Amino acid sequence: MITLGVLVSGGGSNLQAILDAVAAGRLDAKVGVVVSNVAQAGGLARARAAGVATAVVDHRGFADRAAFDAAVVETLRAHRVDVVVLAGFMRVVTTTLLDAFPMRVVNVHPALLPSFPGLHGPRQALAYGVKVSGCTVHFVDAGTDTGPVIAQAAVPVLEGDDEARLAARILEQEHALLPRALQWISEGRVRVAPPGEGAGRARVTVSAQGEGQGEGER
Ligand code: GRF
Repeated sequence: MITLGVLVSGGGSNLQAILDAVAAGRLDAKVGVVVSNVAQAGGLARARAAGVATAVVDHRGFADRAAFDAAVVETLRAHRVDVVVLAGFMRVVTTTLLDAFPMRVVNVHPALLPSFPGLHGPRQALAYGVKVSGCTVHFVDAGTDTGPVIAQAAVPVLEGDDEARLAARILEQEHALLPRALQWISEGRVRVAPPGEGAGRARVTVSAQGEGQGEGER
């Protein structure tokens, strides 16, 4: 059982997917705290409805990003968080947060990375004219949406799609993929292999279900 700290800035439908997966027994985790930089974020109301602790850390009250992140880290530590989930969290995180939770900060992004990082993934996909897009769950590193990929799901881009339709189709997949990836982490099946041995960058391996920790990775 791992304790999650979920950071949200908006509606929090991915947070809801996590809460639902926990309630249904599909995700062996506890949401220890939901933190938002926006006091009105819908995600906070969802957390309260589920009986989960919440905290507002308003970024406007801090001199810089690192000072803001230090306050967020303090809150996460106070709730004994193991894994941090960025679920529609619209702030760039700094090494202050990443160093406090090394390879333990997970993001969900609405595109098939490394395509279309940054803001407006669905809009970028439509503008480019790709026929397939999707979502990516990845560990966060110091770059923007550049960290090791844990899982991806693809969706078709259909004739007549606008940004809202494509984003909704992608979001549906996010809601399935994010809890699943977190369950893999909870089961101790997710490892980050450092760069080397033919790979120029850190890569994630997910060991098969039922195998012991550290065995049988592929
Ligand atoms: C999702 O599309 C996520 O990929 C992106 O922001 C959106 C958040 O939606 N980072 P919600 O707040 O979870 O409903």
